[in-house]
Amino acid sequence: MRSSYEPLTGGRQQGRSTASRLYRRRVTHVLVTGGAGFIGTHVVTALQDAGHRVTVLDSGHPGAHRQPLPDTVAGAPLVRADVRDRSAVDGALAGVDVVVHQAAMVGLGVDLDDLPEYAGCNDLGTAVLLAAMARAGVHRLVLASSMVVYGEGAYACPAHGPVRPAPRTVADLAAARFEPTCPTCGAVVAPGLVDEDAPLDPRSGYAATKLAQEHLTSVWARQTGGSVVALRYHNVYGPGMPRDTPYSGVAAIFRSSIEGGRPPRVFEDGGQRRDFVHVRDVAAANLAALEATGTRTGWRAYNIASGRPATIGELATELARAADGRPPVVTGEFRLADVRHVVASPARAEAELGFRAAVGLTDGIAEFAHAPLRG
Ligand code: UD1
Repeated sequence: MRSSYEPLTGGRQQGRSTASRLYRRRVTHVLVTGGAGFIGTHVVTALQDAGHRVTVLDSGHPGAHRQPLPDTVAGAPLVRADVRDRSAVDGALAGVDVVVHQAAMVGLGVDLDDLPEYAGCNDLGTAVLLAAMARAGVHRLVLASSMVVYGEGAYACPAHGPVRPAPRTVADLAAARFEPTCPTCGAVVAPGLVDEDAPLDPRSGYAATKLAQEHLTSVWARQTGGSVVALRYHNVYGPGMPRDTPYSGVAAIFRSSIEGGRPPRVFEDGGQRRDFVHVRDVAAANLAALEATGTRTGWRAYNIASGRPATIGELATELARAADGRPPVVTGEFRLADVRHVVASPARAEAELGFRAAVGLTDGIAEFAHAPLRG
């Protein structure tokens, strides 16, 4: 991975002496919210490895943590507090140059009773953070957003070109008609790559709160003259992923099944497509984004994806094989809030952030098959 202005921020600079590297590098103090979580821990490690000073703010939310929080994350001090706690956030921002905002409730959740907590953690929390940053004069923010803001991915109808399919109905799903159809002629539409200018159409409570975070941070950037890079993560997997919970992504659910001697249960017909991106690549993307916030103002979103989509059936098969587990079963079950295909163009992140995923799915799955999960 290459960053656009590496020489000033202390990335790897072959051929330079250590003295000149230290002279040129200004250590950045970064506050990572949610830094004790699955992705946050990898982000903290990557930032520290790049020479930045890191402070972590994390509440140890029970949706993400079953164990008590540690005192430090990869050596970085941890402030145990909720991002909605104004005075704790004010305190944690002392001396900070940039915030990397990972703290959020993720996943589809259980039911609508989860909605207040999603909105509270994700949107009220972001609003409290942004207000505190404005008070503290901190103008740089990296936001962990999600591909869920797109809803269904990009599609084209053979007769009508690019179309936005309507949400799938219970009747269609129950009849195993999983592929979205053209709103004009009803033909099955072909999936394509979503880019960052695609229409935004959140289809779950969680997705709506991630989109609201994007809007809040965009308004903040405009009003403060600050800089925000929003990273739309695709399906993140890798070591330290939480075990099976209602808030876990499919890779962790499959891994937990295999570990428990059960076959992974593949919903629909297994043909639904996603882009699985390794958590160390996501951490590298955060580092590149952090650097970008130092070179410009305004708000910009990026897909953070591998660029190599896979079906859920393929993921289950590869994971079961790599872990010597039982082969998957395709159940035909469905969840109404699920989208069928969402796969991304990673082109903008590569062109503007210099980020390109390095871990291929086969290698990533081989590691993930035996990697520790969070308890
Ligand atoms: C996931 C995350 C979302 C995150 C996004 C991008 C969850 C629940 N969703 O969205 O938070 O923002 O990636 O990183 O964490 N499936 C099975 N069997 C199962 C469970 C799921 O086949 O046991 C299928 C689902 O039907 C779906 C696919 O796997 O088609 C992906 O599911 P999941 O990982 O839950 O959700 P995403 O929509 O991809």
